[in-house]
Amino acid sequence: MRILSIETSCDETSMALVDMVNVDNDINILIHGHFTASQAQYHAQYGGVFPAMAKLEHIKACLPLLHTLFAESGISIPEDEWASITPGKEQIENINKILHREIELANGLVEFCTKEKFPKIDLISVTNGPGLEMALWVGINFAKSLGEILNVPVVGTNHMMGHLYSGLLPEDILHKEIKLNPIPNDAIALLVSGGHTELIQVESYKVESEKKKTHIQQYTLLGATLDDAVGEAFDKVARMLDLPYPGGPAISKLAETKRRYSVSGSLAQTSESNGEVLDQLHFPRPMLHSKNYDFSYSGLKTAVLYHIQKLPSRQAGLPTDKAGNPISEQDKINIAKEFEDAAIEVLVKKTIKAMDETGANILLVGGGVSANKYLRKELIDAGKKYNFNVHFPLQSLTGDNALMIALATGIEYLYKEIKNQKDELKANGMLKIA
Ligand code: KG4
Ligand code: ZN
Repeated sequence: MRILSIETSCDETSMALVDMVNVDNDINILIHGHFTASQAQYHAQYGGVFPAMAKLEHIKACLPLLHTLFAESGISIPEDEWASITPGKEQIENINKILHREIELANGLVEFCTKEKFPKIDLISVTNGPGLEMALWVGINFAKSLGEILNVPVVGTNHMMGHLYSGLLPEDILHKEIKLNPIPNDAIALLVSGGHTELIQVESYKVESEKKKTHIQQYTLLGATLDDAVGEAFDKVARMLDLPYPGGPAISKLAETKRRYSVSGSLAQTSESNGEVLDQLHFPRPMLHSKNYDFSYSGLKTAVLYHIQKLPSRQAGLPTDKAGNPISEQDKINIAKEFEDAAIEVLVKKTIKAMDETGANILLVGGGVSANKYLRKELIDAGKKYNFNVHFPLQSLTGDNALMIALATGIEYLYKEIKNQKDELKANGMLKIA
């Protein structure tokens, strides 16, 4: 089954073209191409994603990305699987209706058909939530228009389902068929992104009928954040420290500096600006000992804010540095490290509890925060200690991307009848897995 997947839920426009085939009970994947255009640099000045700008940037990126994707895919898709397509009058009218708010994209797509050939495609899959609805609609309407032109079914895929399965891809290699890591029968998924912090139990059943073997996946939400998501807390703390957006990588880099020095023992033990003994800086680990699997990150964020407000440099109104930032580099490093320790400790302990109490022996980790090196190290160590395997996405697939959307779509539809959702598909900013 050849899947064209489209992702526009936030600030990345991404498309992928893959073949997924069911070989006995395994799934093989052949990636023809996948490309992501990031808008992060445009949103950085606002310290977060600005939805109207995200929508415009997605509209601009759709056709150039499709062009690049097709050019790359020409390497592994045989020539006889390409064809020119001339949309008829009715199809053009329908595209104009679907894209009536993005009419320049409708016109561009019709022109695209006059210049480019299309490969054979069996299914178009598009992220229909969760995310920014304004942004999601661009991908959905573009997918519907392509479905109209190519006369193939269009289905919606949950963005978090993409993150959930992203760790099953063992290598990101183009033009060569590879085997996915097997879908586990009983796993826990830790989903950590800018909008989500969730622990989900994933159970997969094999159902054998006379005609074929199928897998059915069942998802149970064990727990989620009650307020801010962990990635959001990273971003907000980064803003307090005047670090660039997105904040996760910047905080993590500072925290790592401190950890490196601590190991080598060469870091001074007191903070220069406030004379505080470093190891006394301690932020709360909210809900660490709660009996459930829920999380809370807003208290931790507030604790960081209070700490910053009490720093002597702030209180005394001392002159600021060039960036207008009154927090010393040393304080930034200390705060970043202690914040990361607190945020990650809660994630890791709750995950261990979920592994233990459900008896699952595979952990699937996904979402932007799964790029965090300290989180990776702590979960791998926990896996060795408590006897479970951890699948992380490749670093290149931790952020939002359409390849993970194709993976999730293939895993679902290789075993399920495809029902065309083209006419009813809608953006759902709050779409849930379970
Ligand atoms: O999954 P993602 O790319 O977008 C959403 O679906 O939200 O996640 C983005 C989040 C941001 O909050 C970003 O700061 C965080 O992932 N992030 C990190 C790291 N890299 C990205 N957080 C902690 N450490 C990182 N290395
Ligand atoms: Zn995401």
